[in-house]
Amino acid sequence: MKTRIIALSGSLRRDSYTTKLVKAFQKSAPEDVALELIEIGNLPFINEDLEKDLPESVKAFHEKIRESEAVLFATPEYNRSYSPVLKNAIDWGSRPEGQNHWNNKPAAAIGCSPYSLGAFGAVNHLRQVMMYVNLLTLQEPEFYLSKASCFLGEDGNVSDPETQNHIDAFWIAFTDWIERLKR
Ligand SMILES: Cc1cc2nc3c(=O)[nH]c(=O)nc-3n(C[C@H](O)[C@H](O)[C@H](O)COP(=O)(O)O)c2cc1C
Repeated sequence: MKTRIIALSGSLRRDSYTTKLVKAFQKSAPEDVALELIEIGNLPFINEDLEKDLPESVKAFHEKIRESEAVLFATPEYNRSYSPVLKNAIDWGSRPEGQNHWNNKPAAAIGCSPYSLGAFGAVNHLRQVMMYVNLLTLQEPEFYLSKASCFLGEDGNVSDPETQNHIDAFWIAFTDWIERLKR
């Protein structure tokens, strides 16, 4: 049985580098891992009024989290923070009150930017919130990719060997982390 990991991309943009980064992680995933990029753009804005009768999209999202063994969060950087679409998904995952679907789930955060700081600010804000919702978050290695437009192609292709090595090393650490938390 493959280890089922879900990936959330914090960008809804058609040609998103963040989504291309997730595809690069999919292409480089170990053979015993199934990394599924899941839909979060269909979730309504968080609104407690909707909690009495949860929308189908939210129920389906909760089910995806429940079925997964771990979660990979990928974020772009918006004004030195992570994206609202990702925050919205994290918030829905933590609701209704008393039903935190993230609780004790192994997780990791990665980020990229076409500019020089590689979404460092975004990933660090993201990790702070991941800690609060009790996602068991991989600490090392960190993953920030700058100049993403130069390195990430279509269908998970990575043109830069150093970036590919970083992705491979990240996978080793992440899968080891998931295994360790099973013991
Ligand atoms: C509202 C907004 C704020 C942004 N702020 C930053 C920023 O703080 N740092 C950065 O490196 N890029 C910033 N950018 C540029 C994004 O990195 C760039 O648009 C990137 O392509 C978005 O990720 P995506 O390709 O996955 O959609 C910002 C873009 C938007 C739309």
